[in-house]
Amino acid sequence: MGRGRCAQIRRRNRTALARWEPERSEEFFADAAPQEALVRRLQARERDAAYPYLIDRAGVVAGLINIGAVERGAFQNGRLGYWIDEGERGRGLATRAVGAVVIEGRDTHRLRRMEAATLLENEPSQRLLRRLGFEEIGVARPYLEIAGRRQDHMLFQRLLGPEPAGGEVGCDVAAAQPDAHPPCDVRLPRHKL
Ligand SMILES: CC(C)(COP(=O)(O)OP(=O)(O)OC[C@H]1O[C@@H](n2cnc3c(N)ncnc32)[C@H](O)[C@@H]1OP(=O)(O)O)[C@@H](O)C(=O)NCCC(=O)NCCS
Repeated sequence: MGRGRCAQIRRRNRTALARWEPERSEEFFADAAPQEALVRRLQARERDAAYPYLIDRAGVVAGLINIGAVERGAFQNGRLGYWIDEGERGRGLATRAVGAVVIEGRDTHRLRRMEAATLLENEPSQRLLRRLGFEEIGVARPYLEIAGRRQDHMLFQRLLGPEPAGGEVGCDVAAAQPDAHPPCDVRLPRHKL
Protein backbone atom coordinates (compact mmCIF):
# COMPACT_ATOMS: atom_id res chain seq x y z
CA MET A 1 0.00 0.00 0.00
CA GLY A 2 1.43 3.38 -1.02
CA ARG A 3 1.80 6.42 1.17
CA GLY A 4 -1.13 8.24 -0.40
CA ARG A 5 -3.58 5.43 0.38
CA CYS A 6 -2.60 5.38 4.05
CA ALA A 7 -3.20 9.12 4.20
CA GLN A 8 -6.54 8.66 2.42
CA ILE A 9 -7.76 6.31 5.17
CA ARG A 10 -6.70 8.82 7.78
CA ARG A 11 -8.37 11.70 5.94
CA ARG A 12 -11.53 9.68 5.39
CA ASN A 13 -11.76 9.10 9.15
CA ARG A 14 -10.83 12.62 10.14
CA THR A 15 -14.33 13.70 11.15
CA ALA A 16 -15.27 10.32 12.63
CA LEU A 17 -12.21 10.28 14.89
CA ALA A 18 -12.01 14.00 15.79
CA ARG A 19 -14.00 13.68 19.03
CA TRP A 20 -12.00 10.66 20.22
CA GLU A 21 -8.41 11.80 19.74
CA PRO A 22 -6.06 14.76 20.31
CA GLU A 23 -6.47 17.79 18.05
CA ARG A 24 -4.57 17.23 14.79
CA SER A 25 -2.77 19.79 12.64
CA GLU A 26 -3.26 19.95 8.85
CA GLU A 27 0.18 18.36 8.41
CA PHE A 28 -1.10 15.27 10.22
CA PHE A 29 -3.29 14.49 7.19
CA ALA A 30 -0.61 15.07 4.54
CA ASP A 31 0.32 12.15 2.27
CA ALA A 32 3.67 11.50 3.99
CA ALA A 33 2.36 11.80 7.56
CA PRO A 34 1.12 8.22 8.19
CA GLN A 35 4.43 6.82 7.05
CA GLU A 36 6.34 9.23 9.27
CA ALA A 37 4.11 8.31 12.21
CA LEU A 38 4.68 4.61 11.55
CA VAL A 39 8.43 5.12 11.33
CA ARG A 40 8.33 6.86 14.73
CA ARG A 41 6.31 3.99 16.12
CA LEU A 42 8.71 1.44 14.68
CA GLN A 43 11.60 3.30 16.30
CA ALA A 44 9.67 3.07 19.57
CA ARG A 45 9.26 -0.64 18.86
CA GLU A 46 13.04 -0.98 18.56
CA ARG A 47 13.33 0.64 22.01
CA ASP A 48 10.70 -1.73 23.46
CA ALA A 49 8.55 1.35 24.12
CA ALA A 50 5.56 0.65 21.84
CA TYR A 51 4.11 -2.09 19.61
CA PRO A 52 1.95 -0.82 16.73
CA TYR A 53 -0.30 -3.01 14.55
CA LEU A 54 -2.19 -2.32 11.36
CA ILE A 55 -5.39 -4.24 10.83
CA ASP A 56 -5.22 -5.95 7.46
CA ARG A 57 -8.55 -6.72 5.82
CA ALA A 58 -8.07 -8.29 2.41
CA GLY A 59 -4.89 -6.30 1.85
CA VAL A 60 -6.41 -3.00 2.91
CA VAL A 61 -5.60 -1.23 6.17
CA ALA A 62 -8.82 -1.08 8.20
CA GLY A 63 -7.50 0.43 11.40
CA LEU A 64 -4.65 0.76 13.80
CA ILE A 65 -3.95 -0.68 17.24
CA ASN A 66 -1.07 0.47 19.39
CA ILE A 67 0.40 -0.87 22.59
CA GLY A 68 2.14 2.25 23.89
CA ALA A 69 4.02 3.45 26.97
CA VAL A 70 5.52 0.03 27.63
CA GLU A 71 7.00 -0.06 31.10
CA ARG A 72 9.11 -2.95 32.36
CA GLY A 73 10.40 -3.75 35.85
CA ALA A 74 7.71 -4.51 38.37
CA PHE A 75 4.96 -3.10 36.11
CA GLN A 76 5.31 -5.00 32.76
CA ASN A 77 2.53 -2.74 31.49
CA GLY A 78 1.37 -1.31 28.17
CA ARG A 79 -1.34 1.20 27.21
CA LEU A 80 -3.78 0.25 24.49
CA GLY A 81 -5.06 2.60 21.78
CA TYR A 82 -7.11 1.71 18.68
CA TRP A 83 -9.37 2.92 15.91
CA ILE A 84 -11.27 1.21 13.12
CA ASP A 85 -12.16 2.64 9.72
CA GLU A 86 -15.69 4.07 10.02
CA GLY A 87 -16.98 1.90 7.16
CA GLU A 88 -15.69 -1.29 8.83
CA ARG A 89 -17.23 -0.86 12.26
CA GLY A 90 -19.94 -2.97 13.86
CA ARG A 91 -18.77 -6.27 12.37
CA GLY A 92 -16.62 -7.56 15.19
CA LEU A 93 -13.35 -6.37 13.65
CA ALA A 94 -12.11 -4.51 16.76
CA THR A 95 -13.19 -7.37 19.00
CA ARG A 96 -11.07 -9.82 17.01
CA ALA A 97 -8.13 -7.52 16.27
CA VAL A 98 -7.76 -5.86 19.67
CA GLY A 99 -8.26 -9.25 21.31
CA ALA A 100 -5.47 -10.68 19.14
CA VAL A 101 -3.15 -7.79 20.03
CA VAL A 102 -3.83 -8.29 23.75
CA ILE A 103 -2.72 -11.90 23.36
CA GLU A 104 0.29 -10.79 21.33
CA GLY A 105 1.15 -8.33 24.12
CA ARG A 106 1.12 -11.15 26.62
CA ASP A 107 2.80 -13.88 24.60
CA THR A 108 5.26 -12.01 22.38
CA HIS A 109 6.01 -8.89 24.41
CA ARG A 110 5.67 -10.55 27.83
CA LEU A 111 3.36 -7.89 29.23
CA ARG A 112 1.50 -8.75 32.42
CA ARG A 113 -0.96 -5.87 32.44
CA MET A 114 -2.66 -3.74 29.84
CA GLU A 115 -4.39 -0.45 30.46
CA ALA A 116 -6.87 1.53 28.37
CA ALA A 117 -8.71 4.81 28.88
CA THR A 118 -11.94 5.93 27.23
CA LEU A 119 -13.93 9.14 27.30
CA LEU A 120 -16.92 8.73 29.58
CA GLU A 121 -19.32 8.84 26.63
CA ASN A 122 -17.35 6.37 24.47
CA GLU A 123 -19.67 3.47 25.17
CA PRO A 124 -18.65 1.39 22.09
CA SER A 125 -15.06 1.42 23.31
CA GLN A 126 -16.10 0.58 26.88
CA ARG A 127 -18.22 -2.33 25.66
CA LEU A 128 -15.32 -3.54 23.55
CA LEU A 129 -12.94 -3.48 26.52
CA ARG A 130 -15.40 -5.27 28.79
CA ARG A 131 -15.96 -7.89 26.07
CA LEU A 132 -12.20 -8.46 26.03
CA GLY A 133 -12.03 -9.05 29.76
CA PHE A 134 -10.92 -5.58 30.87
CA GLU A 135 -12.19 -4.39 34.22
CA GLU A 136 -13.02 -0.80 35.13
CA ILE A 137 -10.56 0.83 37.54
CA GLY A 138 -12.44 4.10 37.92
CA VAL A 139 -12.72 7.60 36.52
CA ALA A 140 -9.72 9.94 36.31
CA ARG A 141 -10.83 13.60 36.43
CA PRO A 142 -9.43 15.03 34.22
CA TYR A 143 -7.04 12.73 32.42
CA LEU A 144 -6.10 13.42 28.81
CA GLU A 145 -6.37 16.22 26.27
CA ILE A 146 -8.84 15.02 23.64
CA ALA A 147 -10.46 17.18 20.95
CA GLY A 148 -8.65 20.22 22.32
CA ARG A 149 -9.49 19.97 26.03
CA ARG A 150 -8.43 17.88 28.97
CA GLN A 151 -11.27 15.48 29.66
CA ASP A 152 -12.32 12.91 32.23
CA HIS A 153 -11.64 9.30 31.27
CA MET A 154 -12.73 5.88 32.43
CA LEU A 155 -9.66 3.74 33.12
CA PHE A 156 -9.61 0.01 32.44
CA GLN A 157 -7.07 -2.73 33.05
CA ARG A 158 -6.63 -6.32 32.10
CA LEU A 159 -4.16 -8.49 33.96
CA LEU A 160 -2.41 -10.92 31.63
CA GLY A 161 -1.66 -14.16 33.37
CA PRO A 162 0.40 -16.90 31.77
CA GLU A 163 -2.73 -18.95 30.95
CA PRO A 164 -4.03 -18.96 27.34
CA ALA A 165 -6.26 -15.93 26.87
CA GLY A 166 -7.81 -16.77 23.48
CA GLY A 167 -10.79 -18.66 24.81
CA GLU A 168 -11.49 -16.04 27.46
CA VAL A 169 -11.85 -13.15 25.07
CA GLY A 170 -13.42 -15.15 22.25
CA CYS A 171 -11.07 -13.75 19.62
CA ASP A 172 -9.46 -15.47 16.68
CA VAL A 173 -6.02 -16.38 17.98
CA ALA A 174 -4.87 -17.38 14.49
CA ALA A 175 -5.25 -13.76 13.51
CA ALA A 176 -2.47 -12.88 15.92
CA GLN A 177 0.21 -14.27 13.63
CA PRO A 178 2.13 -11.26 12.27
CA ASP A 179 3.60 -11.29 8.81
CA ALA A 180 6.09 -9.03 7.16
CA HIS A 181 4.15 -7.34 4.35
CA PRO A 182 5.29 -3.75 4.17
CA PRO A 183 2.26 -1.48 4.63
CA CYS A 184 2.92 2.19 3.92
CA ASP A 185 6.40 1.22 2.75
CA VAL A 186 7.52 0.23 6.22
CA ARG A 187 7.62 -3.17 7.86
CA LEU A 188 4.99 -3.66 10.47
CA PRO A 189 3.18 -6.73 11.74
CA ARG A 190 -0.30 -7.05 10.35
CA HIS A 191 -3.31 -8.96 11.45
CA LYS A 192 -5.17 -10.68 8.64
CA LEU A 193 -8.83 -10.85 9.54
C1 LIG B 1 -14.51 1.52 19.46
C2 LIG B 1 -14.25 0.95 18.08
C3 LIG B 1 -12.76 0.62 17.93
C4 LIG B 1 -15.07 -0.35 17.95
O1 LIG B 1 -14.79 -0.93 16.67
P1 LIG B 1 -15.76 -2.01 15.96
O2 LIG B 1 -14.97 -2.71 14.92
O3 LIG B 1 -17.03 -1.36 15.54
O4 LIG B 1 -16.05 -2.99 17.16
P2 LIG B 1 -16.77 -4.41 17.02
O5 LIG B 1 -17.38 -4.53 15.66
O6 LIG B 1 -15.85 -5.45 17.48
O7 LIG B 1 -17.94 -4.24 18.08
C5 LIG B 1 -18.99 -3.31 17.78
C6 LIG B 1 -20.33 -4.01 17.84
O8 LIG B 1 -20.46 -4.93 16.78
C7 LIG B 1 -21.02 -6.15 17.27
N1 LIG B 1 -20.66 -7.24 16.35
C8 LIG B 1 -21.20 -7.37 15.13
N2 LIG B 1 -20.69 -8.46 14.54
C9 LIG B 1 -19.82 -9.03 15.38
C10 LIG B 1 -18.98 -10.17 15.33
N3 LIG B 1 -18.95 -10.95 14.24
N4 LIG B 1 -18.18 -10.46 16.37
C11 LIG B 1 -18.21 -9.68 17.47
N5 LIG B 1 -18.99 -8.57 17.57
C12 LIG B 1 -19.79 -8.24 16.55
C13 LIG B 1 -20.44 -6.23 18.65
O9 LIG B 1 -21.19 -7.07 19.47
C14 LIG B 1 -20.52 -4.80 19.10
O10 LIG B 1 -21.77 -4.48 19.63
P3 LIG B 1 -21.93 -3.56 20.94
O11 LIG B 1 -20.96 -2.42 20.84
O12 LIG B 1 -23.35 -3.14 20.89
O13 LIG B 1 -21.61 -4.45 22.09
C15 LIG B 1 -14.69 1.90 16.93
O14 LIG B 1 -16.00 2.30 17.18
C16 LIG B 1 -13.82 3.12 16.77
O15 LIG B 1 -12.82 3.09 16.05
N6 LIG B 1 -14.20 4.24 17.43
C17 LIG B 1 -13.53 5.51 17.27
C18 LIG B 1 -12.13 5.51 17.88
C19 LIG B 1 -12.18 5.15 19.35
O16 LIG B 1 -13.14 5.43 20.06
N7 LIG B 1 -11.08 4.53 19.80
C20 LIG B 1 -10.95 4.12 21.19
C21 LIG B 1 -10.58 5.27 22.03
S1 LIG B 1 -10.61 4.79 23.74
